[in-house]
Amino acid sequence: MSSTSRESSSHYADKVAIVTGASSGIGQALVVQLIAEGAQVFAVGRDAERLNSLYGLTNAPVTQLATGQFDVQDEAACRQLVESCLSCFGRIDLVFCNAGRAMKGAFLSANSPLPSTGIMRTNYDSVVYLAFYTLPYLIHTQGHITVTGGIVSHVGLPEFSAYCASKHAVRGFIESLRREVTAEGVTLTLVSPDTVRTAVRANMQDACGNPDPIPYGDEKVMSAEQCAGKILDATRRKKRDVLLSTRARLLNLLQFAFPGLAQKVLAIRH
Ligand SMILES: NC(=O)c1ccc[n+]([C@@H]2O[C@H](COP(=O)([O-])OP(=O)(O)OC[C@H]3O[C@@H](n4cnc5c(N)ncnc54)[C@H](OP(=O)(O)O)[C@@H]3O)[C@@H](O)[C@H]2O)c1
Repeated sequence: MSSTSRESSSHYADKVAIVTGASSGIGQALVVQLIAEGAQVFAVGRDAERLNSLYGLTNAPVTQLATGQFDVQDEAACRQLVESCLSCFGRIDLVFCNAGRAMKGAFLSANSPLPSTGIMRTNYDSVVYLAFYTLPYLIHTQGHITVTGGIVSHVGLPEFSAYCASKHAVRGFIESLRREVTAEGVTLTLVSPDTVRTAVRANMQDACGNPDPIPYGDEKVMSAEQCAGKILDATRRKKRDVLLSTRARLLNLLQFAFPGLAQKVLAIRH
């Protein structure tokens, strides 16, 4: 075990964590690592079979891992999932708002200005609902909310307008809320991965909301496990806003300092 994971282990041991998007990809890896570090986890997704597979992946007993099928687009479901976590474990220390989906397509090709894709409800509304219903308990435990953003939380990638809007909105919400809840002892972290190899591209939608999977190329991209490790590290260190690749950090800086040049670079890349 590395010194980093030993430190993390002591940080997460006996903490109660809600993880959304736990049935796949980054969320699944978060559950596996949190369990390995001694946390109690309430794992949320919609797919019962994939949620159940977490018991096999972690070997965790039901006293350490509980799963719940909830649609995080739905406010009542978010309230219920918080109540379910409390009835399983009695407290909440950490909330990983990780459920999300992506959408790629030219705005000019959309069949309506706001096609009913659920992208805002999944990526933004869910974070607001979970913050609202968990904060009273997080104030009690001096807890932590960590949100999975993306480069799209910082940079306007061409043909990702709906996805960018949802992830920019989350960033604005977190930035403002942080100024309100820091005095209450609650920490907020936004972690923005670059490309990670998960099911996100298989579940991609086009600008009209139709399925439009995009295969991964040969490029070397981060694994879900690496990404989860970095999310847990940022949470343990109480970071505010972390971009997980040099490319993302450079693009973010370029956009800030030289927006015209950033637009040219992005036009070449896409
Ligand atoms: N992969 C990347 O390149 C990348 C890069 C930057 C940021 N991210 C962000 O990372 C997060 C995790 O994505 P991933 O890459 O791990 O993709 P993924 O493998 O497709 O996982 C997405 C997860 O979100 C859950 N989810 C989606 N809609 C939901 C809903 N309405 N209610 C409840 N759960 C819902 C899915 O659960 P069910 O299938 O059970 O519904 C699944 O567990 C997302 O917020 C994504 O935007 C990903």
